[in-house]
Amino acid sequence: MATAVALEASPTGSVTPGAGEVIIKVEGLTKTYTMGDVTVRALDGVSFEVRRGELLAIMGPSGSGKSTLMNVLGCLDQPGAGTYWLDGVETSTLDDDALAEVRNQKIGFVFQQFNLLARTSALEQVELPLLYAGVRDRQARALEALAAVGLADRARHRPTELSGGQQQRVAIARALVNNPALLLADEPTGALDTRTSEEIMAIFQRLNEEQGITVVFVTHEPDIARHTRRVIHLRDGQINQDAPVPEGERLTARPIQEAPAHEAAAARR
Ligand SMILES: Nc1ncnc2c1ncn2[C@@H]1O[C@H](COP(=O)(O)OP(=O)(O)OP(=O)(O)O)[C@@H](O)[C@H]1O
Ligand SMILES: [Mg+2]
Repeated sequence: MATAVALEASPTGSVTPGAGEVIIKVEGLTKTYTMGDVTVRALDGVSFEVRRGELLAIMGPSGSGKSTLMNVLGCLDQPGAGTYWLDGVETSTLDDDALAEVRNQKIGFVFQQFNLLARTSALEQVELPLLYAGVRDRQARALEALAAVGLADRARHRPTELSGGQQQRVAIARALVNNPALLLADEPTGALDTRTSEEIMAIFQRLNEEQGITVVFVTHEPDIARHTRRVIHLRDGQINQDAPVPEGERLTARPIQEAPAHEAAAARR
């Protein structure tokens, strides 16, 4: 079975069914946290749309509400008020089980700190979402997902036996293995050096261009945001800018360049 994580280049460019349809629509999202006497408006009336096939970055100062927004978009948290339609479904109408199912089927989520299980091989980490979804043939699909992020030869490695960039690629493979329509990432390169961040951007760009996966990620770094086509800026829980990245400023990431096996082995010694 062909899965969305098989990343063969398409000579004719990408033709994605449903491209351009609205996949995310939020209107008037709010989220308020009260700590003692202090009330924080983490989200203060956020409205925007994302179309299928978009690649966009969310930026903003620390505390501006980026993670709060991503958690709502990822169905990990409900907003205080406002409406979130994911692929046309109003998420507030779903109970916890239905929300978990939507999350499993439609969304891949990547975290800054990778969130991998310490004692589990890359292959087993990537198989987990398939296990939850009751999919058979898990190992073949997990291997395919690892191959798509350039890690076919690291399937048996545990997180401590992988570099930071490789760990994040395992996390991306895990996020992709269920063929989600939407990939959300909260500072996916925040814990990585520049070169490794570039590798992660190369993966996001390929997934977006070749598979038509909609990608939304948070970053603090303008140079990372320039790998997208649109940047939303948050400040104090509100959108203060939502603008395309001008064509001439867009960056294309260099693809993954795995160190030759003997070098990688030497590096681990
Ligand atoms: N669980 C919580 N309880 C109380 N306040 C919270 C909670 N989560 C977030 N906040 C507050 O909400 C605001 C927005 O937080 P959020 O984590 O969304 O910011 P952010 O833009 O992701 O920041 P950073 O760039 O530092 O990750 C902050 O003022 C934060 O202190
Ligand atoms: Mg954050």
